[in-house]
Amino acid sequence: DDRAPAQQCPMGAAPDIPLHMRRDGFDPVPEMAALREEDGVRLLPSIFGTVYAVTRHDAVKAVMADSTRFSIAPREEEFGMSALTEEERARRVAGDLLGLDAPEHTRLRRMLTSEFTVRRMRRLQPRITEIVEEHLDAMVAAGPPADLVADFALPIPSLVICELLGVPYADRAEFQERTSRQVDLSLPEEEQAELVRESRAYMAGLVARAQERPGEDMLGMLVREHGDELTTDELIGIAELLLAAGHETTSNMLGLGTLALLRHPDQLALVRDDPAAVAPAVEELLRYLSIVTAGVTRTALCDVEIDGVAIPAGAAVTAVLATANRDPRSIDDGERLDVTRAAAGHVAFGHGLHHCLGAPLARMEMQIAFPALLRRFPGLALAVPFEDVAFRSHHFIYGLLSLPVRW
Ligand code: HEM
Repeated sequence: DDRAPAQQCPMGAAPDIPLHMRRDGFDPVPEMAALREEDGVRLLPSIFGTVYAVTRHDAVKAVMADSTRFSIAPREEEFGMSALTEEERARRVAGDLLGLDAPEHTRLRRMLTSEFTVRRMRRLQPRITEIVEEHLDAMVAAGPPADLVADFALPIPSLVICELLGVPYADRAEFQERTSRQVDLSLPEEEQAELVRESRAYMAGLVARAQERPGEDMLGMLVREHGDELTTDELIGIAELLLAAGHETTSNMLGLGTLALLRHPDQLALVRDDPAAVAPAVEELLRYLSIVTAGVTRTALCDVEIDGVAIPAGAAVTAVLATANRDPRSIDDGERLDVTRAAAGHVAFGHGLHHCLGAPLARMEMQIAFPALLRRFPGLALAVPFEDVAFRSHHFIYGLLSLPVRW
């Protein structure tokens, strides 16, 4: 493992990580909170060219809701794009909901919406519970200490999305490693491009198999019900996004969320002991941790003004979800974790057209996993000093590299 542990890579110290994505423990860096209180919007240098960082809650929602004035189509200088050939770039965008504007986006999103409804997700509840219990059993059998990321937070959402989508769980080592590298902002461009190629080639194999013999999973459904309206590249792109977004996000919420609760024992006790406290606690953890620190960068399609700052047509605009979710204009005392508050207005899942498709699934997984973990191990504790916990300091999706625990 060549990744630097957190203690050698203190928060915010990695020089190339754009300021608006830097974190300090659970928080956005103080400079970003200051920016929100001063200008609200500011032009910042980033490894993908300069971007207007939008930091206040209302303005973040306004940008994310307004797909007529802001396009999500990737720009050439964007992360992971520059070392690709033109043809590879076109393929990379096919089926990628987070790279498409209406009406292409609408067409694809419509095919998927019914698969991710709250009601659909409820049907998965027994299976998710079983998966969670199996992983807890395995932790008990192996005995303390454990790495909560490797033994719990990462495998649970990975297995769930594999079963849902129709991806062999046996391939997990390969795709988990690839996805975590794909969101690593410190990776050289050539390596990013290579990962894009590998990921496509892997998913192309699974799509070809589903086209030949469609199964009862989501890939099979897409082939059976939408096979004539989707190109193979689109099928590959959709499946790649679902696989990556399906495990890389929830796993970081489970790891980082557990650490946050361990640091707030009174709130941990509520989640453990009061079933009614769980759903609001999950919303508060989503808000407080904002693991997607900033949304996908948009491009202004015309001259716009946000919070009094003039943004010219063609400029890159980034909605900073982590600062928006603690904006005193929308939430009292937002710097504090309080699992009893009503945090539902947060933007941790984004907002508008591209609002997280997997939100009902992620919520279901977290609402099952957190209380099950805390009830199984009432004495759960960190197995290392807090200062030694390895945060993912240079990843597009924030979280922990590992979380050593004992009980
Ligand atoms: C979009 C966060 C879990 C699939 C998004 C966006 C955010 C987000 C912020 C919008 C980005 C933007 O507009 O710039 C999260 C968080 C998760 C999570 C915090 C876990 C706690 C999941 C899961 C899945 C998923 C489990 C898959 C099954 C997607 C997809 C989109 C998306 C497909 C693109 C939607 C579109 O463009 O229409 N997510 N996500 N996410 N997410 Fe999630």
